[in-house]
Order: sequence, then structure tokens, then C-alpha cells
Amino acid sequence: MKMEVLDEIFRRVLSSKIFTNRSSLRPDYVPDELPHRENQIKMLGSILAQALRGSRPSNVFIYGLTGTGKTAVTKYVLKRIEEKSLGFKTNFTYAYINCRQSDTPYRVLADLNESIGVRVPFTGLSRAEVYRRFLRNLDARKCVMIIVLDEIDFLVKRHGDDILYKLSRVNEDLLYSQASLIGITNDLKLTETLDPRIKSSLGEEELVFPPYNAVQLEDILRRRAKRAFRRGVLEPGVIPLCAALAAKEHGDARRALDLLRVAGEIAEREGAENVTEEHVKKARAEIERDRVVEVLRTMPLHAKLVLLSMVYLDNKGKTRTTTGELYASYVHICRELGVESLTQRRISDLVNELDMLGLLAARLVSRGRYGRTKIIELSVSKKTILEVLGKDERFSGVANL
Ligand SMILES: Nc1ncnc2c1ncn2[C@@H]1O[C@H](COP(=O)(O)OP(=O)(O)OP(=O)(O)O)[C@@H](O)[C@H]1O
Ligand SMILES: [Mg+2]
Repeated sequence: MKMEVLDEIFRRVLSSKIFTNRSSLRPDYVPDELPHRENQIKMLGSILAQALRGSRPSNVFIYGLTGTGKTAVTKYVLKRIEEKSLGFKTNFTYAYINCRQSDTPYRVLADLNESIGVRVPFTGLSRAEVYRRFLRNLDARKCVMIIVLDEIDFLVKRHGDDILYKLSRVNEDLLYSQASLIGITNDLKLTETLDPRIKSSLGEEELVFPPYNAVQLEDILRRRAKRAFRRGVLEPGVIPLCAALAAKEHGDARRALDLLRVAGEIAEREGAENVTEEHVKKARAEIERDRVVEVLRTMPLHAKLVLLSMVYLDNKGKTRTTTGELYASYVHICRELGVESLTQRRISDLVNELDMLGLLAARLVSRGRYGRTKIIELSVSKKTILEVLGKDERFSGVANL
């Protein structure tokens, strides 16, 4: 019986009525056209084209909110320059490093070595040695190299900006090669925390990526949908709705594409002939739920305990609570579980972090001459919290809160 059910699923997936090329909607796919980014492509292209003439392009600092095409445009332009460079005498090479994945200075330096064909061990060498190897080998190649550090904020927040400082002066140590840096971030406040010398060196050129509006998102989706979906399966309201929902957030193309892809997947799972607006609404709920589950799952222990304390209070009929009350029930739960509790100050910080993640809502209300107090509520359902945290063995002691 079970086998038949699976067979039916396989048959449905393999003979998709909805998609012709689902993977072209995936986040890491670099499309061959990027509408509404012509200016950014031209500007980045004209800066980096210096490399084709054998001179060092200016360093570039790229910023803009998430999903505004920074990574896609940068990869697109670099690919074109690399293709073009094949017909030139100049030696050109580039390294694309995502600092969320390569999140230590050592890893970044190791990746730089690897991008010019030098293998370094995972650990064991000093950072200085890995850097020296990179310089030596880069110089030996007699080339112009562009180094892209994407999502640079992940590196800077954890490890400071030393590595950026070093890399922004790399040319002082090179005789026969030259290198330029492209730094990318969606953290618009990052520059405030950077050393002014790095800021001015990295920001020789600055490129801003504004959010897309609903009309632009619609156009982007239409072009990408052509390749991904069978003709005629999208009902007319589907793309405008995905675009409108994503524009309302902040013009995030990734969000718009995710909505469209997941709506298609839901339609397919249901065995539907068409993708409808209803599927988009379901997709929105599914994406939001996945986000919450992922955040919950990967949260540190005490953040989980704070949420459990909120559930505990809620079960006692207190849907709204104050920091003091929350802290008392947090301490109680810690004691039950035999976990050492943190200070009220730390819990107050955690509440703010959970608020920023959209799991709690905390707001200050005035209580006249008693000053102000913070009122805290859950922003996600108790059911979801218990479902996810219930899988964490450490909480089995408080299963029936
Ligand atoms: N103009 C465009 N045309 C087609 N697809 C686009 C366009 N802009 C962005 N996309 C797509 O939207 C998704 C998000 O874009 P991208 O990854 O470049 O965003 P980002 O600015 O780097 O965001 P983050 O700051 O989160 O890294 C990608 O799948 C990308 O292919
Ligand atoms: Mg990116």
C-alpha cells in the first residue's frame, strides 16, 4: 500500500504539470538577465573593466537591503569580465567568498589561496603564514585579481575588521600582481563601525542598490517565470500578488521568487492544474512558518527558556506580562530543569533580541508616576513553540508546562 502511495508521488513529481525548470527559481541560480539593475551593472562593469587593461580597478563597496540583487549583479559582471578576459593578454582572476560560510579570517585567507590553486590545511598554520602564502603565489601569477567579500558583516561582527584592513593594503606587499576588493553588505549601519581608514579605502567607489518596487518585481518575476513554469499554468493574479507582497516588505526579489516557487510547489503537491492566488497565500504562510521553526530550532538555550517561560505564563492565563514576572517564571523553570539562570539584565537583552526576530512583542508603556514598564507578548503561536521545543530533549522535564 505504502509503495503505491510513493509511486504516485514520484509519478506526479517526475511528470510535473506545473514546472518546466524548477531549479531556475532557486536562490543560487544566476539568471542571464537582471532587469532594473542596468545602472548598477554598467557602473560595476565600467569600474572592473580596468582589469582588462591590466590596471587595478578601484575597490568597491556595495550596499543595499536584502534581496536587491547585489550578489546576482556582482556574479553576473564578474562572469562577463572573466569571459572577456580570455581574449586579452592580461591575466585576470577573481575570488568570490561568502563570509557567512567562510566566517573566520583564517577561512577567508584559505579560500583566497584556494581560488588561485593553492591548497592550505584546514587548521595548523598561523594566519600570518596563510596570508604570506597567498601573497607569494598571487605575485607569482602576475595578474589582476578581484576579491569579492560578500555578506562582509558576518565577518566584521565576529572578528573585527583586521582582515579587511590587511586586504585593503594588499597592494603594498605585491610587486607583480594587483588586487582590488569588493565588499558587499545589507547591513547599512556597518560602515559606522568600520575603522575610517578601511572605510575610505574600501569605499573608493560606492554602489547603492535600492529596493525594487512592485512594478519592477512583477517584471522580474514574469521573466523568470517564463523559464520555470509551463505555459499558461499561472493564473493572472499570481505574479502581481507575489510582487505586491514582496514589495510591501521592502522590495526583496528573493522573497518574491520564493513565494512564486513555493506557490508552484504547493500547487504541484495538491495535484492542481494551475497555480492560483490561494496557493500564493498558502506559500506565504508556509514560508513564515518555516522561518519561525528555523529560528526557534537554532536559538541558544536561554532564549528558548525565555519563550518557554512565556508559554508557562500564558497557560496560567497571562498572555501579557512584565519583565519582572517573566524573569520570575524563567528562574522557576531554570530551577526545575537544573539549569543555572542568567541575570535579569541578560534576560532583558534576550527579550529585545526575540522582539527583533519577531517571536515576541515588547513595548514600553507609561505607568504615570511609577515610570515606564515593559509589556511582553508572544508573537507566534504557543503550538509552534511547543512543537519545535518539544523535540529538544533538554526540555522533557517541563513537557506539561
Ligand atoms: N533584477 C533581477 N532580475 C532577476 N532576478 C533577480 C534580480 N535581482 C535579484 N534577483 C534574484 O533575487 C534573488 C536575490 O538576489 P541577490 O541574492 O542578488 O540579493 P542580495 O542583494 O545579494 O541579498 P542579500 O543582501 O540577502 O545577500 C536571487 O535569486 C536573484 O537571482
Ligand atoms: Mg547576497
